[in-house]
Amino acid sequence: MTFSLLLDCDPGLDDALALLLAHGDPNLDLVAVTTVGGNVSLEGTTRNALQLREYLGFHDVPIAAGAAGPLTGPTRDAAEVHGASGLGNVTLPAAVLATSDISAVDLIIQTLQAAPGTIHLVATGPLTNIALALAKEPRIVEWAASFIIMGGSYTRGNTTPAAEFNIYADPDAAAAVFAAGWTVVMVGLDLTLQAVVHAGIVERMHTLGTLGVDLVAPLATFWTNPLDDEWDGQALHDVCAVAYLARPDLFTTKPARVEVELTGTFTRGATVVDFHSAAPNAIVLTKVDVEGFWDYVHEAWANVNV
Ligand code: RIB
Ligand code: CA
Repeated sequence: MTFSLLLDCDPGLDDALALLLAHGDPNLDLVAVTTVGGNVSLEGTTRNALQLREYLGFHDVPIAAGAAGPLTGPTRDAAEVHGASGLGNVTLPAAVLATSDISAVDLIIQTLQAAPGTIHLVATGPLTNIALALAKEPRIVEWAASFIIMGGSYTRGNTTPAAEFNIYADPDAAAAVFAAGWTVVMVGLDLTLQAVVHAGIVERMHTLGTLGVDLVAPLATFWTNPLDDEWDGQALHDVCAVAYLARPDLFTTKPARVEVELTGTFTRGATVVDFHSAAPNAIVLTKVDVEGFWDYVHEAWANVNV
């Protein structure tokens, strides 16, 4: 069975590897990409998406640029994690093809409207584009085959002790997304941190030839956390969100009500997850078959020649 998806992203080390997975898995059909300001500026995330499209070879997939910053409040980035360019120390050839001449919001709406119930919407950056699309066309809730996000957590954050970056970068957008009436598949830190890139995984990446040596391994090992003396490697957060679409069998989930804290001095951007709610609005991923995940991802990445 083939799953069609639109990926809204902020490439980004792990967003780049999520794009690689969406392109490499023959059971996934990447039909469109939209970019949002997040890990680095919108200019940077869009440049990265355009370069990845040509380097990896998904030339026929439209890419549209979206919001540069959040609905309200200051714009934050994660360049300290992803590097100034957003792709760590990886340098890709300049892109020749340009973005589409429509906005990310319109590409999201038009893509979902053209094929109601068949295209899955996956978001791996701040949710600003999704919230703006919902405001312009609420029916995308019905048109999306499913809606999967990398974001949030039901324990601790990574950008603050309470908040995960994608939610923290635009809490108002996240709150609107969780309140829109669809079921949000939430791939949060509690899940993604179960599958970190340790030394054995890096060795396996190097068996992917030029793709592994020049792109996958450098992206997957760029950031080490100097403050964590138990550091065992990066988590490829966004890859988990795309992997869930293709291989839900690798994951354990629970229904929950998720609310986004907007007013807390120390907790703004936290996702408050109630696994006992009688009115769930989300499916929250709680466990991953780690070995099965790496086997799947590696096999899909190996399909791409650069
Ligand atoms: O907190 C992890 C998330 O923030 C990932 O999507 C990563 O790319 C960054 O955007
Ligand atoms: Ca991301």
